[in-house]
Amino acid sequence: MKTSSTISPVRGARGAPAVRNAPGAPTELLLEARSLNAWYGAAQILYDVDLDVRRGEVVALMGRNGAGKSTTLKALIGMLPKRRGEVRFMGHDISKTESHVAAKLGLGFVPEDRRIFTDLTVVENLEVGRQPPRRWADGTDVPPWSIERLFMLFKNLGEMPYRPAGRMSGGEQQMLTVARTLMGNPYLVLLDEPSEGVAPIVVEQMANMILELKTHGMSILLSEQNMHFAELVSDRAYVLEKGQIRFQGSMSELAGNEEVRRAYLSV
Ligand SMILES: Nc1ncnc2c1ncn2[C@@H]1O[C@H](COP(=O)(O)OP(=O)(O)O)[C@@H](O)[C@H]1O
Ligand SMILES: [Mg+2]
Repeated sequence: MKTSSTISPVRGARGAPAVRNAPGAPTELLLEARSLNAWYGAAQILYDVDLDVRRGEVVALMGRNGAGKSTTLKALIGMLPKRRGEVRFMGHDISKTESHVAAKLGLGFVPEDRRIFTDLTVVENLEVGRQPPRRWADGTDVPPWSIERLFMLFKNLGEMPYRPAGRMSGGEQQMLTVARTLMGNPYLVLLDEPSEGVAPIVVEQMANMILELKTHGMSILLSEQNMHFAELVSDRAYVLEKGQIRFQGSMSELAGNEEVRRAYLSV
């Protein structure tokens, strides 16, 4: 069945093959990478990575330190000097575009090095991320984020609206980076190791925040090496090793596959 952007696709087609450019379908493909290869200088880091993220999914990109998780996220948005392969986002070919193009199309990215402005306050940092509201191609609005709405989700940020970001804890800065990305009203967020280097209490807040975003229909691709965290929040998983996808499946399949977990993860 061919579906044009003006016809509402049939509901309940979960599990059916994804139809490209079928906005609103439960299987709507947002992000698609095919044979993605990437290099730092002469060193090839990624080898023929294939991955998909559909609307409403939380997908975990897993692997040990150095497996290529961050490189994959950067390669998807075009933050690397050299990459090859196909990357499509919402039907747009972004294989050769610079990262600002992906951002403008509504592909949010939260890098592992939190790039907040330490001299600016929480509210000012959020303002920096503001982008116009967006609409799905089927005409439904992406519920726009406002500072008020974000403060309901990130209650601790709401308690320190005028604090300079440089005077916040690492966990608070992590939350602020996520919140600032949401201010861009992305269709999909790439989240690089949200649980890394923060206190256990913040890890828990991060997990709750992701689950809450999921109930708002947000689609997320997160990189993670913490199986427990990934299991809490994700629907599906890809496992990377040495820049190659070694496993893909549902989160419960991965949880039940001890061989894969032993071979490629730290659990
Ligand atoms: N800026 C860089 N220059 C050269 N090599 C890099 C750079 N960043 C990462 N690498 C190498 O690429 C590989 C994958 O790294 P990365 O994607 O950061 O892994 P992960 O995020 O899974 O820990 C590692 O071998 C790492 O040493
Ligand atoms: Mg990384």
